[in-house]
Amino acid sequence: MGGQYSRESSKKIMKNTSKRIKKTVYIKTFGCQMNKADSRRLKELFAMEGYNITEKKSKADVMVYNTCSVRGHAENKAMSHLGRLKFAKKNKPDLKICVVGCMAQRMGEEIIERLPHVSIVVGPSTMFRIPLMIEEEVEGVVLDTADSVKEFSDYIDEAACEKSEYSGYIPIMKGCNNFCSYCIVPYVRGREQYRDKSDVINECRSIAKKGIKEVMLLGQTVNSHPRFKDILKEAASISGIERVRFVTSYPGQMDREIVDIVAEHSALCNYFHIPLQSGSDRILKKMNRKYTAESFLDIVLYIREKIPSASVSTDIIVGFPEEKNADFQKTLDIVEKAVFDQCFTFKYSPRPMTTASKMDDDVSVKVKKERLAILNRECEKRALERNKMLNGKRVELFSEGGRKGRTDTYKIVFWEGSPSPPGEKVIVNVKKAMPHSLKGVRVL
Ligand code: 5AD
Ligand code: SF4
Repeated sequence: MGGQYSRESSKKIMKNTSKRIKKTVYIKTFGCQMNKADSRRLKELFAMEGYNITEKKSKADVMVYNTCSVRGHAENKAMSHLGRLKFAKKNKPDLKICVVGCMAQRMGEEIIERLPHVSIVVGPSTMFRIPLMIEEEVEGVVLDTADSVKEFSDYIDEAACEKSEYSGYIPIMKGCNNFCSYCIVPYVRGREQYRDKSDVINECRSIAKKGIKEVMLLGQTVNSHPRFKDILKEAASISGIERVRFVTSYPGQMDREIVDIVAEHSALCNYFHIPLQSGSDRILKKMNRKYTAESFLDIVLYIREKIPSASVSTDIIVGFPEEKNADFQKTLDIVEKAVFDQCFTFKYSPRPMTTASKMDDDVSVKVKKERLAILNRECEKRALERNKMLNGKRVELFSEGGRKGRTDTYKIVFWEGSPSPPGEKVIVNVKKAMPHSLKGVRVL
């Protein structure tokens, strides 16, 4: 169905409709950095079509909700949020409410059925056609999973990143081939597709020219891009780009050479996000994760040895089917040895379509909660330990606006002293470490 909304016809419509009255669009994003990247591009597309972008729902003629499906909790939250929009639609019958992204892909028909005030529902690979669909007054569900490489690169070329930001999100791949047994991503985002290295580098160059100082290379398994190492080296050498980050690294493809490349290039941020998920090989196997706890720890310890100041963050799931106390204990062992700078922790919840959803979800909610609390306590202890190493030190930040910024290791620092516009470099003397952030005094 999606095929009829080609990019070519979108361009035609853009030309034909340049004289129409300016509409206003509000875009709200749930979920991961990939979604944030998609939303930024969507904003730019709407702007190119002559829309005003607003942060105020009350001003919107079009509302776009970019949704996440990774955990059931995220979907429930989005559904209740969307449910409340029926009042907005009642007050403004011409309002177009659009639901895009992974949840739209997964629950298309159901969303239209349960939320009759929603006009358009489209999946991640079709969302850039939304301005055209509004123009053509298309209503209903338009799902398009046929995501050819050509289309992916077309979409990416369409828009770079928001000019008001100092940091640009640059997807280098999309989708995932790993099929971890708990994960819905391969079903809603499709198989892996890689952008050409030259397109990625050209986009980095073009946003550098616009004054962007930091790029975040994105992918569900960013390091599975066949030219990942070359992309890192080349992106790090672009004049004007001072920081290059990459998320998320799949542990099985995280080799020492990547760490060496990061150590060698000052523009590559000393920050690694590598999801562990579990410290038990038995559970990792059931999760269909293709590495062992030992190989995971080996790479983290190599990072610690090669770049002692580097941050390592991770994702961990507790209460996966058949997780016994002994398995959980193994996760705690890795947490103790790896000393993560930050951990994102989750209670396992079965997701539709996944192979784990056919397993018996046999760890009780009570035990999941207990394990999560223990894990969070341990993670916070280690994160504080790592942050305390910065006490009394001067750190260089890129301001995120006001009195808040981030180190190259992605740590959040709040400071006392004069505020700063986004992207400005600020030097802060760290006075206090907390598990999730630092406080200090601005010295420059
Ligand atoms: N249950 C709990 N956590 C999950 N994640 C992904 N799927 C599930 C699930 N079914 C977590 C993983 C992943 C992060 C983005 O979300 O830790 O790395
Ligand atoms: Fe999901 Fe696993 Fe792919 Fe990550 S690597 S997106 S957890 S299937």
